[in-house]
Parts: sequence; C-alpha cells; structure tokens
Amino acid sequence: MLSPATIDTIKSTVPVLEKHGTDITKRFYELLFSNHPELLNVFNHANQKQGRQQAALAGAVYAAAQHIDNLEAIIPVVKMIGHKHRSLGIKAEHYPIVGRNLLAAIQDVLGLSATDPVVLAWGEAYGVIADAFISVEADMYEQAEHQEGGWADFRPFRVERKVKESDEIVSFYLVPVDGKPIAAFDPGQYVSVKAEIPGEPNVHIRQYSLSVAPGQPYYRISVKRESGLSGRPDGKVSNYLHDSIEPGDVLPLSAPAGSFTLDGGDSRPVVLISGGVGLTPLVSMLRHSAQTNPSRPVTIIHAARNGDVHALKEEVKHVAAANSGIAAYWCYEQPTEQDKELGEYDREGRIDLNWLQQIVPSKQASFYFCGPVPFMKAVNGALREWGVEEADIHYEFFGPSGSLD
Ligand code: HEM
Repeated sequence: MLSPATIDTIKSTVPVLEKHGTDITKRFYELLFSNHPELLNVFNHANQKQGRQQAALAGAVYAAAQHIDNLEAIIPVVKMIGHKHRSLGIKAEHYPIVGRNLLAAIQDVLGLSATDPVVLAWGEAYGVIADAFISVEADMYEQAEHQEGGWADFRPFRVERKVKESDEIVSFYLVPVDGKPIAAFDPGQYVSVKAEIPGEPNVHIRQYSLSVAPGQPYYRISVKRESGLSGRPDGKVSNYLHDSIEPGDVLPLSAPAGSFTLDGGDSRPVVLISGGVGLTPLVSMLRHSAQTNPSRPVTIIHAARNGDVHALKEEVKHVAAANSGIAAYWCYEQPTEQDKELGEYDREGRIDLNWLQQIVPSKQASFYFCGPVPFMKAVNGALREWGVEEADIHYEFFGPSGSLD
C-alpha cells in the first residue's frame, strides 16, 4: 500500500512527467537498449523509430499513475496491454529492468537525485503498477498454457499453404510442427510471429490477426506487404514473409491473444467496418458469426483503394451469399477501369455517416472497426455523430494503440 503522501506526490507530478513525457520515454529507451540489448529482440523497431511505442508507454504509465489509489478502474486497459505483453513473451523478471531504467530516465530529464522524494514516490508507484500487470499476465500465461491445445511462449508452425489474396495481401495457413491440437481462440484475436531474418542482428516479432473462424485444424494470417510511405521504412517482416517464406517453412508463433473480440453472447445486429488489411479480424468475426449464430444479422463494410487491393472478396461474397442475414458492401476510393466495368462496388470515395445511415439498418447494433488511423478516426467520428452508444463501439489499432480524438 502506498502512503497518502506518496499518492499525493504521484498525482501532483503526473502533469510534470506528462509535459516531459516524450523526453523521458526517449531517454528511457536509450538507457534500456544500451543496458539490455537483448530487449531489441522483443521491441518493434519500426514503432520505435516513429515514436508510437514511446507515446503508448508514456500514456499508459500516466493513466495508471492517475488511478494509483484505485488500479481496479483501469483493469480493462491493463488486460488489453497484458494480452500484447503475453503474446510477446514479456515476463515478470522484465518489470524491474523497465522500472530501473524508467526511474533513471526521470532522474536524468528532470535533473533529480536518486533520493529525491519525487523519484522515491515514482519508484514505489511503478512497483504497484508493475504488480498489477504481472498478476494479470500470470493468469494469461496460465490460461494460454493449460487450455486444450494451448502453449506458453513460442511454438513452431509449418506453412501449409501460401495464398495470394490481392496485389498486396498474402495468406499463410499454419499448422503446428508437433502435429498436436491447436488452441481455440476468440474471433478477432491475433498471434505473434517471430521472424528470424537472415543477416538481421535481432529477431523481429509482429502481431497478425487470425483471419479465419476458430475451429479449424490450422491458423491463417493474412499479411499486407508494407511499403515505405511518409518516412516509414518498408516493413521488414511483411516483406520477408511475402518474399522468403514458402510452404514447408517454419515460423514460431505464440498462442492467440487480444481483447478485440466479437461478443458471441450478444444477438443484436453486428456491423463490421474495415479499411485495407484491417479486414482480417473482421473476416474471422463474420465467419464465426455465420457458423455459430446464423440468425444474427451482420453488415460487413470494407473500404479499399480499388478492387486490385481488395483481399478476401470472394470469400466474404461466398459467406454473404450463403446467409440471408449477411449484407456486404464495398467502398472503393479510386476504382480502376476494370472495377468500373465489373461494377462490383457500392460506393466510390470514402465511408461517411450519410452512407452508413443508408446501408446500416439501425444504430442499435454492435459496431467493430479496424483499419489505418485516418480511417478509424473517420468511422469513429461518424458513429459518434450518429449517436451510437459508447458501449457498442469496438475498435483495434494496428500496432500501439493511440487516440481517435
Ligand atoms: C507494448 C505499457 C512493461 C515490452 C506496450 C503498450 C503499452 C505498454 C501501453 C502498447 C500496447 C498496445 O497498444 O498494443 C507498459 C506498462 C508497463 C510495461 C505501463 C509497466 C508497468 C513492459 C515490460 C516490457 C514491455 C516490462 C519488457 C521489457 C513491451 C513491448 C511492447 C509493449 C515489446 C510492444 C510494443 C512494440 O514493440 O511496438 N506496453 N508496458 N513492456 N510493451 Fe509494455
């Protein structure tokens, strides 16, 4: 238990740390990687370069600190992050390492000594926050390992099939090398893939949503080739998977994780809205809903640049054609001449509220969306303007979570 004085110090210094947040976390990562270069094997270097992970970590620490006297209030957030940590193989022993380097960074940036009351208070508070994460993640490891077909850490999977889904997206069908059963998962969950790229000093871990309904003897991920755009380098792992991984190759996977999942117990209509490769978790939800709850109405809406980069279209069409309760709509930003000839899309341009109101039967539904950040902001804004209940809005970011405001 923290003393009232420590809680006061923490709460009154959150704004100071927030003000220096980026400097502190930048310094923290410098210290962390120079003292523990082995951790370069778990952090996503592309996210580091863009500063997205720095912002996510800083945000989470301050959010937790603001609730330091009632951490129960942030358990859903701790669980979301805990899923990511468990999927990456983050263990209890990593927490003191992060704590030491975070405190050292606070000292460096604010020019404080190790015995300054502010530093001592944050040391105590970090311990309390870390314990909350460690306990949530211990339960997750326990569950991942002991569920039927489950496992802890990474398990080798063989690529059984590699299928081109569009000009940019390829699916990999993955079966365990040991031939034993694989864990069930909730539609919307992801797996971490560990890539050992020849010539690279570190391994790289990436999360990919499972794009198939649960219950198959294999997992499927559908990976977009990430090309360098606006200062972002080409995706190391996605290009490696596209260019170098073929049927027969082996990839280590951690067990399915994630809290962006379809509420199977809810029978109200569901609306799935995706942009680009954000369709992968939503296709899993669609197929699961069609199989297990066929009377549940589903509207699935997908936004793509054009038909050439529209993945899994035939599969979704097939599911919709077989089920009268499922309606599928496509929105192409810049349809090609061929798209125009085929006429297989419902809207040209972008998704907006006006169009959503025409195709979605009611705002009394569960809405799930996933895609690039500008797309997510537009969809979130439209749903809020429409007056969709907060509790009915579910979304997931690619990479570290951010803000949709
Ligand atoms: C991801 C917070 C401890 C390694 C994240 C994210 C947050 C976060 C907010 C982003 C999650 C998302 O949006 O998907 C925290 C907090 C910690 C903590 C508050 C301490 C109380 C640790 C520790 C490690 C670690 C001890 C291991 C050394 C990572 C990694 C990621 C991550 C590798 C994935 C990010 C990436 O590579 O882009 N953490 N974390 N975290 N965390 Fe932590």
